[in-house]
Amino acid sequence: MKGLILSGGAGKRLRPITHTSAKQLVPIANKPILFYGIEEMATAGITDIGIVVAPTTGDEIKQAVGDGSKFGVRVTWIPQHAPLGLAHCVLVARDFLADDDFVMYLGDNMLEAGLSDFVERFAAARAESGSGHPTRRPSAQILLAQVSDPGSFGVAEIGSDGQVTQLVEKPEKPPSDLALVGVYLFDRTIHEAVRNIEPSARGELEITDAIDWLITQGYRVDHEVLSGWWIDTGKKDPLLECNRLVLDTFGRSIDGDVDDTSTVEGQVVLEAGAKVVNSTVRGPAIIGSGTTVEHSDIGPYVSIAVDCRISGSEIDNSVVLRRSTVSDIARLTDSLVGRDTVLSRTVRADEPDAGALRGPDDTGPRAIRVMVGDHCRVEIE
Ligand code: DAU
Repeated sequence: MKGLILSGGAGKRLRPITHTSAKQLVPIANKPILFYGIEEMATAGITDIGIVVAPTTGDEIKQAVGDGSKFGVRVTWIPQHAPLGLAHCVLVARDFLADDDFVMYLGDNMLEAGLSDFVERFAAARAESGSGHPTRRPSAQILLAQVSDPGSFGVAEIGSDGQVTQLVEKPEKPPSDLALVGVYLFDRTIHEAVRNIEPSARGELEITDAIDWLITQGYRVDHEVLSGWWIDTGKKDPLLECNRLVLDTFGRSIDGDVDDTSTVEGQVVLEAGAKVVNSTVRGPAIIGSGTTVEHSDIGPYVSIAVDCRISGSEIDNSVVLRRSTVSDIARLTDSLVGRDTVLSRTVRADEPDAGALRGPDDTGPRAIRVMVGDHCRVEIE
């Protein structure tokens, strides 16, 4: 079985972060989202992986992933000239995929469950139905998850016999609350399906429509409902939620320096070369190598990448990307700070309490929530 990871697209919902870099490279607990997907494939025994990339972000992704050897896989790069849809990705990957079965994985999705069981069940169902009539062998297997906002996803309608009867992409009136998760298993029949659909109202060739075509043509499409969490990380709040879920799985490992006036509590990963000076770090949190935290209060649920400088600030539930500075921000919460960015507060000499921006009823520091892109300078008065 081969793997196809979709890592192109425009990343509009994570702007401004994705103006300058690929959304699949935004880190969750200091590791690019895309790497989790590649690792899951390797764990499931899939080592021949095609990655679809866009002209704007392809080079950056290629540089980050390399030839795949660090993950124990072989990567074939598949350029897609424009984000024409998930089914278009299958079209452009035709030569790479040949007639093999494959798992397709959306590069911005993360799921707790991993891929191994899902892949094994498809292989078992196909083996069981042997070489009988092709419509009795599953041509596709999809994964569904219950969501509160099905209109933002592909949605499945399940018939009284428990089979999927219809799939619709981002419907105004969702037929159920079962969303399509961004992991799909296909045999070669999908190539016929993607050639037989038309672009949707948003101008994309939808994989949802291609699978719906399979159902309409009488091909067998199996499904299972996911247990465990699944996140489409394409927006800030789900991304922060995913960061929390992954940080929750971490243990404690302190390889950096903590001075005598600092406290580091709970599940904290402090990488070698990181420094904590006169500060408190409350886990779950991760602080990358080369980063200095001084006179600050960090956590819970904070990921700070490598080579950052945090001083005089309180940060919780946030992700700070590499080489950025946060200084004198009384409370930064629910935030995503891009790379090489400076977020600071102008502290006036005549202020009685230079460190703290107070809330309206003086209950504590006023919280600031931001999503700032790469290479920015933000000064808060
Ligand atoms: O997250 C699950 C949802 O993913 C499904 O429920 C939907 O049925 C499915 O259409 C998809 O919806 P999104 O609107 O979230 O897809 P998005 O445009 O974010 O693209 C998903 C990934 O595929 C992302 O990593 C970018 C990549 N991509 C996307 C397009 C449109 C490509 O590589 N090429 C493309 O042309």
